[in-house]
Amino acid sequence: MQILFVLLALGLAKSLSCNSYQCKTPSQNLQQNQCIYWDQATNGYFLQLCTEIEKPYCQLPDELTPSNETCSQIQPSAPLIYPGEKCTTSSDCAHSKQGCLQGVCRGTLENQSCTSSWDCDIGLYCSPTNVCTKLISDGGKGCRSEFDCENWLGCDIDENSHSTEGTCRPYYSILPHETVKSCSSEGINTLCSSNMCGIPELGENIVCTKPLSSSKKVPMPCDSDASCTSTTDDLFKTTFYSNCSCGYNPEGEAFCNLFPNDEPFEKFIKIMTKWYHSESVKQCHTMRRNAWNCITDWWNTNDATTLIYFQLKVERWPYIQKNDMCVSTIYEVEYNFWKQAYEKMVDDNDDDDNGILMYLAEGLGLFLYL
Ligand SMILES: *[C@@H]1O[C@H](CO)[C@@H](O)[C@H](O)[C@H]1NC(C)=O
Ligand SMILES: *[C@@H]1O[C@H](CO)[C@@H](O)[C@H](O)[C@H]1NC(C)=O
Ligand SMILES: *[C@@H]1O[C@H](CO)[C@@H](O)[C@H](O)[C@H]1NC(C)=O
Repeated sequence: MQILFVLLALGLAKSLSCNSYQCKTPSQNLQQNQCIYWDQATNGYFLQLCTEIEKPYCQLPDELTPSNETCSQIQPSAPLIYPGEKCTTSSDCAHSKQGCLQGVCRGTLENQSCTSSWDCDIGLYCSPTNVCTKLISDGGKGCRSEFDCENWLGCDIDENSHSTEGTCRPYYSILPHETVKSCSSEGINTLCSSNMCGIPELGENIVCTKPLSSSKKVPMPCDSDASCTSTTDDLFKTTFYSNCSCGYNPEGEAFCNLFPNDEPFEKFIKIMTKWYHSESVKQCHTMRRNAWNCITDWWNTNDATTLIYFQLKVERWPYIQKNDMCVSTIYEVEYNFWKQAYEKMVDDNDDDDNGILMYLAEGLGLFLYL
């Protein structure tokens, strides 16, 4: 037992070594239109902003094969639009047997045959007998994954059993220390109100945890996953771990990812819960229940902006700490865009969406891949 514990501790203690990211110094001369200079001697990236209007975009190097980069034109990728999302012509629509009907892509109708849930129209999934079937409602049985359930429900199923005996239950609805049938290797189950789960020290069943926060003030610096500990749950008596990720800062510092009860993550769960309980979520295709393109098509601008901002804030957390200005501008284009939209919205502090709508319309061309 003790040996196992030592091995576990060693495994977790593998120390990270990170590259540094900073603005170029005044004495460094980069080539014309060069936005990134990789200096192998110091494991450092030196950056400068792109200034030519026709070439405003800096392609990011692959982290595994660091390299110099030059400024380029923006090449918007063609958007894929799925059933339930807004379109102008049928050629915009993917997986949409009926094409673009009254401005919305539409898929295969109820009781017609399908090969996957992607084929079916909104409100439907592809059943084990390959027929588009109404999504299973709250408490209903037979789901194999969350996508068989209505858009506000996940599937409570033992993933190892290969059964179809899952039960559809609302996201974030199962209270601390109540049982769930599965838990990801990272200790996550979005059916839990705390977002996290595990098997308690003296238990046999998987249960939801209490709401867990980082053990110290965030952002928590780290050098391995072993430093990324949560507060403890009295039933589990142990801490949980989050990932330690290299950031984009001058010192090559790494930071822990957030736990669900840390403030930005808590706000993200709150706004996701509001989305799942909205009328708008019903207009999305089952596979697109969390897709920003569907959310921005049907939800009010303020809530949609809040959701995207907090989702990015949680996902980008280790990377958005202690950035030089030019590093943030080049590496966090998407986060910065939504942060500004969110701040504009909070500043305006009224129900008039116009300011933020104009801001979004100007920027959305950059984010066609939503
Ligand atoms: C990378 O950029 C620096 C600074 O402009 C330059 O001196 C170096 O030759 C470049 N390296 C490669 C491999 O292009
Ligand atoms: C689909 O089939 C079911 C069961 O046969 C039936 O109750 C339902 O009305 C059908 N739906 C449509 C839209 O035809
Ligand atoms: C933590 O890192 C591992 C390995 O890089 C990855 O597979 C896993 O998804 C990460 N977990 C979270 C919660 O991001």
